[in-house]
Amino acid sequence: MKSILDGRPPLQCEVEKTAEVAGYLWQNGWAERNGGNITVNVTDLVDEEVRRLPPISDVKPIGITLPSLRGCYFYCKGTGKRMRDLARQPMQNGSIIRILDDCASYVIIADQAVMPTSELPSHLAVHARLIEKGSPYKATVHTHPIELVAMSHNPSFLGKDVLTRLLWSMIPETKAFCPLGLGIVRYALPGSNGLAEATLRELEDYDVVMWEKHGVFAKGMDAMDAFDQIDVLSKSAKIYQSAKAMGFEPEGMSDAQMKEMSVAFNLPR
Ligand code: 13P
Ligand code: ZN
Repeated sequence: MKSILDGRPPLQCEVEKTAEVAGYLWQNGWAERNGGNITVNVTDLVDEEVRRLPPISDVKPIGITLPSLRGCYFYCKGTGKRMRDLARQPMQNGSIIRILDDCASYVIIADQAVMPTSELPSHLAVHARLIEKGSPYKATVHTHPIELVAMSHNPSFLGKDVLTRLLWSMIPETKAFCPLGLGIVRYALPGSNGLAEATLRELEDYDVVMWEKHGVFAKGMDAMDAFDQIDVLSKSAKIYQSAKAMGFEPEGMSDAQMKEMSVAFNLPR
């Protein structure tokens, strides 16, 4: 079957990289069934011919109006689709959408009429904000990392930067490679506009946020970059839990050691 990716190496490369990340989410045990979603802003990677492609779906409402997304294109994981399937067949388990001129609706343009993820309001609200800020970030990833989600079930971890500090202190690289830490979004219904609004607010200060008792949501240059930040946080969570399972409270790096990291790596905090 012909694909929109044929003869478009930059677009193909971006979608294949996204599929590689989907495979990592599955291999990590973070993507049970259809769990998690990825969207990538591919507007810069589509040519005039793509812009003229007719829709292959009805007009669908986004649920919110996002003026900065007029005429943008996104690769989106399909709702109900599995990451492990997307890893092998990205255009059968995801699709490319065009945001229409009303900035409140979209159509699917390729390859098949696969409905985008139910978390589309959160993803698109974040992409809109990134464009408004002139950010080079193009990807958003939501996934269900076991240890991080488990930690969100402890209310004492949900205060501002409590988890950030704990996770940073488990291994020096976490602060270096997730330098803004982990924001907290209190529980909200999956797929809801309320979740989208809270995510948007919290991502003003962080690259990765915890959705309490659900998962994490990250933004990055591409899906790989967003994945890497989640991966280092997850590594720290595993170290913490491993120490607890061995029967002791991990000491964590001291404030002085963390400060030293900030100076050495020129980190913002
Ligand atoms: P979708 O299959 O609609 O992407 O939903 C998965 C999910 O993790 C919802 O939060
Ligand atoms: Zn989810």
